[in-house]
Amino acid sequence: MTIEFFNTHISPQAIKMASEVLKATFVSEGEIVREFETALGRRLGLYNPVALNSGTSALHLALVLAGVGEGDEVILPPQTFIATGLVVLMQRAKPVFADIQYDTGNIDPLSIESRVTERTRAIMPVHWGGYPCDMDEIHAIAKRNGIVVIEDAAHALGATYKDKTIGAISDFTAFSFQAIKHLTTGDGGALCCLDDADYHDAVTRRWFGIDRTNSTPSILGEREYDASVVGYKYHMNNLAAAVGLGNLEDFPRNLGRRRETASRYRKELAPVPGLQLLGYKDDRESAYWLFTVLVERRIDFIRKLQTHGIPASVVHLRIDDNSVFGGITPGLTNQERFNKDQVAIPVHSGLTDEEVSQIIFCIKSGW
Ligand SMILES: Cc1ncc(COP(=O)(O)O)c(C=O)c1O
Repeated sequence: MTIEFFNTHISPQAIKMASEVLKATFVSEGEIVREFETALGRRLGLYNPVALNSGTSALHLALVLAGVGEGDEVILPPQTFIATGLVVLMQRAKPVFADIQYDTGNIDPLSIESRVTERTRAIMPVHWGGYPCDMDEIHAIAKRNGIVVIEDAAHALGATYKDKTIGAISDFTAFSFQAIKHLTTGDGGALCCLDDADYHDAVTRRWFGIDRTNSTPSILGEREYDASVVGYKYHMNNLAAAVGLGNLEDFPRNLGRRRETASRYRKELAPVPGLQLLGYKDDRESAYWLFTVLVERRIDFIRKLQTHGIPASVVHLRIDDNSVFGGITPGLTNQERFNKDQVAIPVHSGLTDEEVSQIIFCIKSGW
């Protein structure tokens, strides 16, 4: 059997709960979504999560709530998925790309500082592969300049920073529950807002700006409402929430398994010539959605693994070179090197001990 690069984990409980929702036919947004949100808060420590239909919706809604609009600037790293940059354009704001740290793939706080202008409204750090960014430094810059922090935590469910949960430390944190993420609802996401007013606004705006819980249908049949803000169709439905709630049962074990595999890689691959592990500080714990390494002669590395049935992938290359962003940002030297050297090897929870040994053995034998 060939080794998979990603896995989609569907627990027996998820199948059971999704079947119950289907049998009951209440597939739209309802009580199961509330239960999923409560569970994300209680079991994973996310602060007031608002369940949505994607991570992209969560990022976009955060920008809306932060008041980012036409002419505003938002600082982000190029090392991410294109969604992080597109949501900025959706608000007619300008993405300003800062450099990353070569040894983590995360935005470099020093590079943020030099890009802050009067028009900067938000910083969007992306926790590359699930390893938390330097949040203290980023929060300090944000505070000094009156800027909002929106964490793109699409890769970082379960990660911690200085004993605090990612999802409870910044103005806004966006998660993704897309098919190949650690916790999947098929497609889905969640937005955590530290401010209560933002939380209530997020709940209203995820469904057309209509407050569902405080509006009832009149004798005419339609809900009585007065939408006072622009809302979206960003809510999560019961079917997706049931899959998420069921999968949550296995999440701690799966996250533990990823960390176990990652620590084997860190120990056994450290001495390999031509390969550099990413930096890792003891004050934070990665969620290890990815295990990225920096290698010499990347194509040879990928080919060698492929011939042994082992997939390797960059997953995402820098996004700023897309025409939609106006072309590559010059002078981001760490990003240039990272783009050239980075590649990820499988780290998902479905890997057996034998498969992990096979991957280690193959890499150790050179490329
Ligand atoms: C860094 C990052 N941000 C945002 C997203 C968008 O999430 P979604 O696919 O749930 O909309 C992704 C998706 O993989 C991602 O990798």
